[in-house]
Amino acid sequence: MRPKVLIVDDEKDICKALEFLLKREEYEVASVYNGEEAIERLKKESFDAVVTDLKMAKVDGMQVLEKAREMDPDTAVIVMTAFASVESAVEAMKKGATDYIVKPFLNEEIKLTLRKALEQKRILRENLALKQQISQKRTGCKDVVTVSDVMLDIFDTLEKVIPTKSNILILGESGTGKGLIAELIHCNSPRRDKPFISINCSAIPEGLLESELFGYRKGAFTGAAADKLGLIPLAHQGTLFLDEIGDMPVNLQAKLLKVLESGEVYPLGDTKPKIVDVRILSATNADIENRIREGKFREDLYWRLNVIEIRLPSLKERREDIEILAKHFIGKFAMEHRKNVVGIDGQALSALLDYSWPGNVRELSNVIERAVVLSEEGRITLDVLPAKLRKSRQESDREASSLKNYLNDYEKNLLLKIYQAHGRNKEETSRALGIDLATLYRKFKKYGIEDA
Ligand SMILES: Nc1ncnc2c1ncn2[C@@H]1O[C@H](COP(=O)(O)OP(=O)(O)OP(=O)(O)O)[C@@H](O)[C@H]1O
Ligand SMILES: [Mg+2]
Repeated sequence: MRPKVLIVDDEKDICKALEFLLKREEYEVASVYNGEEAIERLKKESFDAVVTDLKMAKVDGMQVLEKAREMDPDTAVIVMTAFASVESAVEAMKKGATDYIVKPFLNEEIKLTLRKALEQKRILRENLALKQQISQKRTGCKDVVTVSDVMLDIFDTLEKVIPTKSNILILGESGTGKGLIAELIHCNSPRRDKPFISINCSAIPEGLLESELFGYRKGAFTGAAADKLGLIPLAHQGTLFLDEIGDMPVNLQAKLLKVLESGEVYPLGDTKPKIVDVRILSATNADIENRIREGKFREDLYWRLNVIEIRLPSLKERREDIEILAKHFIGKFAMEHRKNVVGIDGQALSALLDYSWPGNVRELSNVIERAVVLSEEGRITLDVLPAKLRKSRQESDREASSLKNYLNDYEKNLLLKIYQAHGRNKEETSRALGIDLATLYRKFKKYGIEDA
């Protein structure tokens, strides 16, 4: 969508020149030659930006500004003024203009000012969305569903580190639940009533990431029309979640490291630091060790972030979670889509169990949502699952189940043998097997060894 711009100037030549210039820049442009017309236009139509002259007969630029803000506070307003009356531009900024530009100006100047103004509005909107997200997250922790031993071991570790301030690095393939675990950590920590700020380092352009994280002072660069708090200071006393940390540009990594070492942030254009106390969670699906070897990730930062490392297994590595997750998602989506879907039949379930799930839990969630929507009612059946899940099901069915049985038998026999050899002493057995006691108990329970 092309941004819509309204130009307001009583000098027709300026309007025409600007119109010509901005249309070439992929803007949709309209111009009017006085304040009255501008206000009429603003009542009928919404614009992303208004570029208005300040000094005009009868209705002047200040009134246009006021009207534009009243109609839609999201509209960026840039005022144009002659060099002799810059004070009036300052006055306009106080009344909410996004930026000003002094006549005569260069083409590049107006293009840049406009682009920055629109960018600033966009960030402002996103911050608003962010704030809404934060308040939603305060309402309660989301469920994390699992029966897998590896995941339960991870929870044992988490239980110990959640109450501390330790930074935690969460690794795992896409869709394994890294974001969810980050929320879980914050939501159970003593910081739960403070902000949880999440930022995706790969989604924000390199140039903006720095000002987003650190914030800036008014006038630090063109378009910095007011002071802005960065996300790190915003997360003060709370948790900052740096998602896709592997994609953070190297020069910014150095600056982040300094912040973590000193506990101080310098907003752009400021000489006074802000003191910050944040717990940092970071996540990536990139091979971070490899990135360090390639010189794309700083080793010193890695050690700072990686006080505790959590490696989430792929869904393929914890097939025992497929069924319980599927049921969890059926409940969730049945409610969301108001469908009377209550479960899954045996055939459809074994298709889920056989599939390789390259997109992990997110893919499973998508498959179930689709199936719930397509189902009439009752149980999910094979025919509402995507074709890729139905393919050669029977073949892999036989293989998978026999392999699983084989491995289960093997594990059970091994446990029994070691248990007997250590005089049925559980502590010694767990030490001999190199697993902790909690895991041993779970496995005993799974195989009914206690009763044996
Ligand atoms: N154990 C779980 N129980 C319930 N829901 C889960 C579980 N794991 C993941 N999910 C859900 O699956 C989806 C994907 O998880 P999430 O976004 O946390 O993955 P991710 O590892 O951050 O992925 P990416 O690397 O693509 O960002 C989310 O909707 C999440 O709520
Ligand atoms: Mg994620």
